[in-house]
Amino acid sequence: MKKIVIGASIVLLAAVACSPKASPSATAATIPEASAVSSDGTTISAGQTIFTTKCTKCHKAKTEVVASKSYGDLRPVLASMVKKANLSNEEIQQVSAYVYANSKK
Ligand code: HEC
Repeated sequence: MKKIVIGASIVLLAAVACSPKASPSATAATIPEASAVSSDGTTISAGQTIFTTKCTKCHKAKTEVVASKSYGDLRPVLASMVKKANLSNEEIQQVSAYVYANSKK
């Protein structure tokens, strides 16, 4: 009986240790997928304003990087950058629309 209890505890511990952490998947979910990005002109130009103001606190506007990469490659970068820039959800949608519109197709 004792062996069964110890065995069950080990299985339970392993399950807890191997379960995926919530934060990385939550981060990726913040940035809309290519199919969900807005193509609205007003949203894109609002995104451009963010890109050239809030996104330039630490570096120049990363225009060349955006133009040379696909949106799929830029999504994880964006996920960490929007946190650094402390953007609201609306601003995230806008800057994502701008980045998508200017990324490599
Ligand atoms: C708190 C500082 C900070 C803010 C704000 C910030 N970034 Fe960055 N970003 C960095 C650092 C540090 C790097 C890596 C060094 C570098 O390339 O300058 C970087 C790199 C990048 C890169 C290049 C990644 C690569 O693969 O070469 C892109 C694109 C980028 N940032 C976009 C953005 C966008 C878009 C925003 C606004 C949503 C933003 N950043 C806001 C700090 C910041």
